Amino acid sequence: DDPRLARISSSIRAIPDFPKKGIMFRDVTTLLLDHQAFKDSIDIFVERYQGRKIDVVAGIEARGFIFGPPIALGIGAKFVPIRKPNKLPGPVISQEYTLEYGTDRIEMHLGAVEKGERVLIIDDLIATGGTLEAAIKLLEQVGGEIVECACIIELSDLKGRDKLGDKPVYALVDYEGDTIPYS
Ligand code: PRP
Ligand code: MG
Repeated sequence: DDPRLARISSSIRAIPDFPKKGIMFRDVTTLLLDHQAFKDSIDIFVERYQGRKIDVVAGIEARGFIFGPPIALGIGAKFVPIRKPNKLPGPVISQEYTLEYGTDRIEMHLGAVEKGERVLIIDDLIATGGTLEAAIKLLEQVGGEIVECACIIELSDLKGRDKLGDKPVYALVDYEGDTIPYS
């Protein structure tokens, strides 16, 4: 086990009852305030992915935009933002996905990823896995080859990995038990 992970884990603040009662919100912004923990988290990803011939780091809005770019710079890949609907100015491809209530959509610029390019997908957190599942489908629409999905945080009780088929997920910390109502 990597000794850097303990500091990363404890730098992430837990906020009870956000955004609603019974939810324990894991706030990754406090990791960014701890220079050592922030640097270590980026270093761990760069060490893991350098030499894996990754062409593209695709970051999911919003917090994938924080961690994706330094990883892309560290491994010599390009960075591609995956955005919420109607934010990107050029021609896009899009992918719908199901939420607790209704549906949402993510978009990516056409031409940002080419067929056969090797892609690392980055987000801050995997919960139900719906967001990463949609990102995988979006990238596969243009022929991207998904090498792995990487997150800072996993809430493994929600079994998000099960949605992603054979696509591997790597997460730095797992807050197991987070979905058990605490009050
Ligand atoms: C959160 C989180 C992940 C997603 C994970 O984002 O940042 O992107 O939920 O949940 P899932 O595994 O159940 O799909 P959110 O949709 O709240 O939006 P934000 O990142 O723009 O704040
Ligand atoms: Mg998000």
